[in-house]
Amino acid sequence: MPHLNQSVFKISLIGAAGGIGQSLSLLLKSQLPKPEIYDKVELCLFDINKDVLNGVMVDLSHIDTLYITLKLSQDIHDCLHNSDIIIMLAGLPRRPGMTRDDLFHINGTIINDLALNIMKNNPSGSSLKNISIVSNPVNSLVPLMVETFKLYKREDLISKVYGVTILDQLRCNHFTGNMNQNIVIGGHSGDTIVPVIQDNELSDDEKLEIINKIRFGGDEVVKAKKGHGSATLSMAYAGFKIFKQFYSLFTSIETNEIGITLYHEIDSCAITGNVKPAILQNVRFFSIPMVIGKNGIPISFNFEIFKYLMNNEFYAKKLLPTCIEKIIENIETGIE
Ligand code: NAD
Ligand code: LMR
Repeated sequence: MPHLNQSVFKISLIGAAGGIGQSLSLLLKSQLPKPEIYDKVELCLFDINKDVLNGVMVDLSHIDTLYITLKLSQDIHDCLHNSDIIIMLAGLPRRPGMTRDDLFHINGTIINDLALNIMKNNPSGSSLKNISIVSNPVNSLVPLMVETFKLYKREDLISKVYGVTILDQLRCNHFTGNMNQNIVIGGHSGDTIVPVIQDNELSDDEKLEIINKIRFGGDEVVKAKKGHGSATLSMAYAGFKIFKQFYSLFTSIETNEIGITLYHEIDSCAITGNVKPAILQNVRFFSIPMVIGKNGIPISFNFEIFKYLMNNEFYAKKLLPTCIEKIIENIETGIE
């Protein structure tokens, strides 16, 4: 029997009945290890599609990781209240012929409401450590949420907002056939995705061919699913890699920081010794390797890769300028 006053680590999944939500819930419920500094984990599921959500909840509930309890939240407030990690998956996915930007209007409204509800349910000093946005378009939705927090002077929340871009890294590993050599930076759509392929044996044209496969990997899935959504299984797997790391950071004794690549406000915190490369002067949000501390806030951004990029014409003159032009547009859309 559970005893009273147990400490609970709460993970909230918004849009949990969807394609990504179901698979990610399965991975979280089945694969997260026992927390070291909490008694149990609560996986709190919310979706406007209550019928599907109820079925998902009952189905998952038979998985025998007894230290993880499931809760179906009837309303968003209950789901967000006193959360440690909020994972945002709600919103429309693309259909063939659509760009991620086409999702901005509808998903932007959902993100705006979510930002207001997060503030209501997590006052300053609350346990909230991480807000991860998977919903598209990531490039604009992260600035939108950050700007909403700014408007309401909730500086405590700003540095905890991250855009999940790791699926591009998985695609890069897959299409290059190399798990460790190449990193992906920038944003999460088309030209803003910059896979840094450091293989001297490939010509620029050969690199560009691989880069385009990575950049349009999302479109490949959308096309293959013929109107039945976008990437869900690979996204859930990719997302789980990120959330497992955050989980370990917040619930284990040993882990004091994690190294991770996410989309974040790169001007946001007073980070010592971190100088933005000149080419990113006007770029407020970018996906870059960073080190995140126990409080969920970046300790440092790693701009090392720019030394290589600025000495390589293909990146310095071609890929980065187009990425930057487009990402600034996307950021402005979110902020406006
Ligand atoms: P889906 O349609 O299968 O699921 C979305 C879920 O959100 C649905 O269950 C729906 O009922 C729910 N929902 C809609 N509005 C809601 C609201 N206001 N509150 C709560 N729930 C709400 O879509 P999916 O395939 O799971 O994709 C979700 C989002 O993730 C899309 O925007 C998609 O473009 C994006 N995505 C991002 C990445 C990435 O790499 N960042 C990868 C794949 C998909
Ligand atoms: C992806 O990269 O697969 C996602 O952003 C979904 C999409 O719309 O392509």
